[in-house]
Amino acid sequence: MRTALVLLFLAATASAGRLDWTGSAACGQCHAAQLAGWQATPHATTRDRFSGRPPSVCLGCHATGEAPAGPAVAVEVGCEACHGAGTAYSPDDIMRDRPVALALGLADLSTPKARTALCMSCHARTTRERPFDPMAKVH
Ligand code: HEC
Ligand code: HEC
Ligand code: HEC
Ligand code: HEC
Repeated sequence: MRTALVLLFLAATASAGRLDWTGSAACGQCHAAQLAGWQATPHATTRDRFSGRPPSVCLGCHATGEAPAGPAVAVEVGCEACHGAGTAYSPDDIMRDRPVALALGLADLSTPKARTALCMSCHARTTRERPFDPMAKVH
């Protein structure tokens, strides 16, 4: 039964493609604590480091979306830059069913390995002298 439901949802969302992003504010409607915590990090305010819209080569790490190959939906390292594009998995009943949420694009960050790989997709070449800690608080 559950498998059939998942397949149904997958079929319904497969064509959504680029429009699959819901935005950090939408996630924050149900996750107020994470939204507030995230807003206090440089991930949320990276737009301030640029005058105007950054070139797409920079948006690959300084934005949420599909840059540099496709459009960036927000100049911030938003919820979905780490958790995955969320339109399909963010309805309440789906969020309460972790296997279904994962099947619909929620990233599995539960292991140190997965978490580190995520961070390193942007943080591999740090410009700062202090060591980078993948377990650092992000919200
Ligand atoms: C309609 C309310 C709602 C929205 C919108 C929503 N969530 Fe959730 N989310 C939940 C609920 C409910 C849970 C399950 C909490 C629990 O079981 O303790 C959850 C769980 C999670 C979890 C933990 C999953 C796990 O088991 O490890 C993450 C991560 C998450 N949400 C991220 C997001 C992100 C990112 C967005 C935006 C794309 C989002 N949520 C949008 C309600 C929502
Ligand atoms: C989509 C790319 C991306 C991902 C994924 C990402 N970051 Fe970042 N991170 C950035 C960018 C870009 C900045 C710089 C923001 C600024 O200052 O404008 C940053 C800044 C930071 C900072 C503050 C700068 C510093 O060196 O003190 C910390 C801490 C941080 N990230 C932790 C993490 C952790 C932990 C993870 C993984 C759980 C992670 N980031 C995943 C892009 C990313
Ligand atoms: C591969 C991912 C990546 C790309 C591409 C990238 N950045 Fe960054 N940038 C980061 C990360 C991660 C940080 C966080 C600080 C650090 O670890 O160096 C950062 C930090 C910064 C900062 C803040 C530095 C500080 O000391 O406060 C500026 C400004 C910046 N980047 C500008 C740019 C510009 C301009 C481009 C495009 C030419 C660009 N970045 C492309 C990952 C990237
Ligand atoms: C830099 C990456 C990053 C960003 C940005 C980010 N998260 Fe997370 N989030 C994580 C990681 C890593 C975990 C821990 C996953 C685990 O241990 O299972 C997590 C865990 C969560 C959880 C599970 C409960 C908890 O607090 O551990 C929720 C809910 C959540 N995030 C929601 C959000 C929302 C909402 C946003 C945006 C406002 C957001 N996240 C932004 C990386 C991120």
